[in-house]
Amino acid sequence: MTNIAVFASGYGSNLQALIDYQKKHGFGNGKIVLVFSNNADSFALERAKKHEIDAKTFNPQSYGSRKEYDNAIDFMLEQNRIDLIVLAGYMLLLGPTLINKYKNRIINIHPALLPSFKGTRGIKDAFDYGVKVTGVTVHFVDEGLDSGPIILQEAVIVEQGQTIEEIEENIHAAEHKIYPLAVKYFCEGRILLKGRKVFIKK
Ligand code: GAR
Repeated sequence: MTNIAVFASGYGSNLQALIDYQKKHGFGNGKIVLVFSNNADSFALERAKKHEIDAKTFNPQSYGSRKEYDNAIDFMLEQNRIDLIVLAGYMLLLGPTLINKYKNRIINIHPALLPSFKGTRGIKDAFDYGVKVTGVTVHFVDEGLDSGPIILQEAVIVEQGQTIEEIEENIHAAEHKIYPLAVKYFCEGRILLKGRKVFIKK
């Protein structure tokens, strides 16, 4: 059994894609058992409740330090026996304790082709730079910013004259396609890590 926690801060469309995939195809022995947000207003929490998934939110402001906040998250993950943390638009950095404890068991989706356009504005930064090809990246989370081993990538072509909204739409479609696949590969034990290179077992 792979117990999955999805962390989201905002709209939660990636969470929705994961829920839809789970309903339609399943994640093998994996199951989303928990949705967590740092933001009580995140629509991801509503999506979780609608699908009868345990939804939790802790306000970072109510904790004395980031360490205390991470400890609360750690305790929640232990209580729910979480094996895999899926960051889906989670806009807070996780602290080193959690990252080390869940090493190679935290994955993130980024709306650009890493290592280009790291950070919180991947789509806009790529658009402003004038790239002709952008895309999305699923990667393991390490101590750095968007720097962990790459699991899957999908390219998105930027057509001449496209608006940022049109590109955003294509980016989200690519995300919703590859994130569930990465979760499935993880749950099937098909992701092999050699150094920083990831191999997907056929
Ligand atoms: C997604 O585009 C995701 O790649 C991005 O936030 C969006 C969340 O959308 N994450 C980052 O930029 C992380 N650096 P969603 O809430 O609709 O899933």
